[in-house]
Amino acid sequence: MNPAIMLVDVVSANREGLKSFLQGQKCNVDTAADGESAVRCCLEMQPDLVLLYDSLPDIGSFELCRQIKKDPFNQLTPVVLLKPSPDLWDIQRGREAGATDIWANPASHWDLLGRVQTLLQLKKYMDEQARSAVFALARSVDSKQNSRNGHSERLVAYAEQLGESLGLGDEDLHELRIASWLHDIGKIAVPEDILLKPGPLDAEERRIMQEHPIIGEKICAPLKSLRRILPVIRHHHEKMDGSGYPDGLRGEAIPLKARILQIADIYDALTTNRSYRGALPPEEALQTLLSEVRSGWLDASVVLKFTQVCKQSEYSPVRGRTMLASYYGQRLAVRQSPAPNSESEDTA
Ligand SMILES: [Fe+2]
Repeated sequence: MNPAIMLVDVVSANREGLKSFLQGQKCNVDTAADGESAVRCCLEMQPDLVLLYDSLPDIGSFELCRQIKKDPFNQLTPVVLLKPSPDLWDIQRGREAGATDIWANPASHWDLLGRVQTLLQLKKYMDEQARSAVFALARSVDSKQNSRNGHSERLVAYAEQLGESLGLGDEDLHELRIASWLHDIGKIAVPEDILLKPGPLDAEERRIMQEHPIIGEKICAPLKSLRRILPVIRHHHEKMDGSGYPDGLRGEAIPLKARILQIADIYDALTTNRSYRGALPPEEALQTLLSEVRSGWLDASVVLKFTQVCKQSEYSPVRGRTMLASYYGQRLAVRQSPAPNSESEDTA
């Protein structure tokens, strides 16, 4: 994918010339001629680099830089201020505003290109490192909940099979897999005495636990490659009747991938050993999902499709092994530690 650059510049001759030049260097370039459109463009485009020239009609360049950088979406985005001849005071103010660097206006587009390419390489490296860190955090959360060994792998398999059966395309299935790995990453901020509590949570503990979809969204927001899964992370605890959290979305306002993920998540929890009960047989787990449909919590059509997928998988060696591995594996497993608490594992 070509890198995306946002060019904020009201000197139109320079803007259009530089835009054409950078596009010729295989960059996607959007332009903004004022602060308002720049902030909006940053939200829509999530650029890999912002070049901010020193002349805007409605807002100073330092203030615009500050506004761009305060948005979690842009935390990893380099913002460069370009000025005719920056002095030490400009450099100081730029740094305070969150600018990556302050450059004197380059002598030529080619001179600018060398610096731009260096920053784009740095941004790419930062994205890769941040993505690795995010996945490491998600694995850490998963392993903390140690009675759920293999939970994420099973969840990915269930969600993918369900998504496929609902006709999702390759791109949506890829996003669903990533979301399945990362959806509970916000639990990294939940204290262990709450996360691993064997009994029911009290009201305050539940409030803390219920912040994890929003925290997860914030953790993943700076990564452009995760942008499309943010709604799945945020809304994986919504309920069809609007009684879920964090936003109380109803029905199809809840993203389909979030509805798929929550059904797969609950099914895996039900077919997994807990400190207070053994793993349920698949048929019983499916009945529980149906009872949650009747309660108005889960999407009826998606649960029915999941039921079909589960029943069909019994006749397919590969899928059957995947779908039933949780239950039979758990039935054979020795209970080594109390099951952690989870606000969602047995119900929506
Ligand atoms: Fe969750």
